[in-house]
Amino acid sequence: MKKVTQLVIPILAIVVVCSSAYAQFSKSGDAISYRKAAMHLIGVHFTRLAGMVKGEVPFDKAAFSKNAAVVKTLSELPWEAFVTVGSDKGDTTMKPSVLKEKDKFMAAAESFKAQAKKLSETADAGDTNAVKTQFGESVNACKGCHSVFRK
Ligand code: HEC
Repeated sequence: MKKVTQLVIPILAIVVVCSSAYAQFSKSGDAISYRKAAMHLIGVHFTRLAGMVKGEVPFDKAAFSKNAAVVKTLSELPWEAFVTVGSDKGDTTMKPSVLKEKDKFMAAAESFKAQAKKLSETADAGDTNAVKTQFGESVNACKGCHSVFRK
């Protein structure tokens, strides 16, 4: 019994620390660097998709699926970091309106998440024309949010 307790308490401590870190950022600077890192990665993988859609590099179905899956996963990560109090100030291009219009911002994030999921599913299904159309929808989701919420 003692052994079990010795094991359980550290595990619980880790769970508590990790879940609070997941739910919120104690420093606004941490939120800014987190979301910029996630956005940077989304940009890198999205650019690889764009190259194939524009024909700058040959369309490779497997590579497209892989990169689209990465974008889908990343699309689920950074939104809490955008609505962190005080994170409109500092080394950021986020407009303060994100904090004033959280619901509108989160709706734009949800719509992008849905587009990214659909893009990954379409890529896995393998119809190149459908993939290109869905890629266009996803670009609109990026642009739609940036035009309103990014300086
Ligand atoms: C719901 C809103 C939203 C969506 C959707 C969105 N972005 Fe962003 N993005 C932002 C905001 C706000 C910033 C500014 C972040 C900052 O400076 O703190 C940003 C920053 C970036 C950056 C700069 C990161 C850096 O290093 O500073 C890149 C690149 C980027 N986004 C690419 C994309 C791409 C590509 C998509 C679509 C596939 C996308 N974004 C979708 C809101 C969004």
